[in-house]
Amino acid sequence: MSRTIIVSNRLPTKVQRSDEGLSFSPSEGGLATGLGSIYRADNNVWVGWPGISVDEEEEREVREQLRTDSMRPVFLTETEIRDFYEGFSNETLWPTFHYFAQYAIYDQTHWEAYVAVNEKFCQAVLELAGPDDTIWVHDYQLLLLPQMLRAVRPKSSIGFFLHIPFPSYELIRVLPWRRQLLEGMLGADLIGFHTYGYMRHFLSSVSQLLGYQSQNGLVEVGTRSVLVDAFPMGIDQAKYAEVAQSEQARIHEQTYRDALRNERIILSIDRLDYTKGIAQRLRAYELLLQTYPEWRERATLLMVVVPSRDQVEQYKELKEEIDELVGRINSTYRTISWNPIQYFYRSFPIEELAALYRMAEVALVTPMRDGMNLVAKEFIASKIDTPGVLILSERAGAARELSDAIIINPTDTNQLAEAMHEALVMPEDEQRQRMGAMQALVKKYNIHHWVELFINRLTYSKLKQETLATT
Ligand code: G6P
Repeated sequence: MSRTIIVSNRLPTKVQRSDEGLSFSPSEGGLATGLGSIYRADNNVWVGWPGISVDEEEEREVREQLRTDSMRPVFLTETEIRDFYEGFSNETLWPTFHYFAQYAIYDQTHWEAYVAVNEKFCQAVLELAGPDDTIWVHDYQLLLLPQMLRAVRPKSSIGFFLHIPFPSYELIRVLPWRRQLLEGMLGADLIGFHTYGYMRHFLSSVSQLLGYQSQNGLVEVGTRSVLVDAFPMGIDQAKYAEVAQSEQARIHEQTYRDALRNERIILSIDRLDYTKGIAQRLRAYELLLQTYPEWRERATLLMVVVPSRDQVEQYKELKEEIDELVGRINSTYRTISWNPIQYFYRSFPIEELAALYRMAEVALVTPMRDGMNLVAKEFIASKIDTPGVLILSERAGAARELSDAIIINPTDTNQLAEAMHEALVMPEDEQRQRMGAMQALVKKYNIHHWVELFINRLTYSKLKQETLATT
């Protein structure tokens, strides 16, 4: 029976080491949380890195443990973690693709590690994939993999999806390895992006750098044609709705509400990342407290920052900046009985997240750049029977769909502070009407719909190519 082999740098389960040995927990980030709950259907397998470097004995334990959950680990050495993961993936591609080119470094050793680790993934997939299996490669850490697989398996059905923005040609042209990266992606039969904007940027780069022309999203690459299209990713709406209604979530919510004395809650949840606009958001909240003193002691910013990539310099600096800003705002405005910001630097289990989503009246999703941003959709899915307002950055992919949010420019601090005030005073009728419209959308275009659409499109484009080849 044919199945889908999902390949991404990070597995949906991460392994950590403690005094008691290895522990296994869900990974953070849009890709893992988005696909993590549904990939097991139809015998599928997920190939990826478990997030830690291990010795031989631990390797056996991790392999065994993950096998029962249909995961096949690819282990990275310390050097590969430094040069491939922290280096090329997160100090070159991540900043470039998110328009932070000033943070990007160009290092030949990092590039060589990137090629070598993509080859490592290629071997792992080839050991597993039968001729009828569909191979679905995900994200910027594995841009070279589609072409590497194609070279060995010319007939395989290979899909690629990019979970982050694809930037304008002006950013791509700066990369010394731009041609190899684009050729790598073009090894796929179908390339998917979250928005049409990203897709257009990709087609423009392909035409200007490689000279390949396209029509209706179909790129001619020698004798092959590659289909490029937009597939805005959804979430497992049913799961979030169910957890939000669970007894556990309600109990957590009550505990939090009692502790916060029923203050109005503005919620912010992100991985630690300079793309997320966390510092800008804090400055806007400070401005809200200055401009509208009536919210002092009546509103609280509940801010969760999930630790991420903390060995990368820019992330360390950002952590310090956030700590400092929170300290300054809290020490300036706090009273004996009120803290303006409740700041958590850790991850939360899903039942506690659901409680936070339930109790928040306003969610701030205000990234500088974000491929999609699934937190926005999780907030909406969790708001089953309560109103609430989403403030959403125009530079998150989700803004293309969620037009009933208050859409803002995240660099405009005044606009963001005004949006917070507007959200806090928005009449309940209006909240329910906007939230209802977004809920319908998140329910309909859920993760199942997304997977089905992508896989059907891949099957269709493959069949079309085969028919063309035989006529
Ligand atoms: C984003 C990326 C994912 C990545 C996640 C977490 O959502 O698109 O590919 O897995 O961030 O980042 P990390 O570096 O911890 O895997």
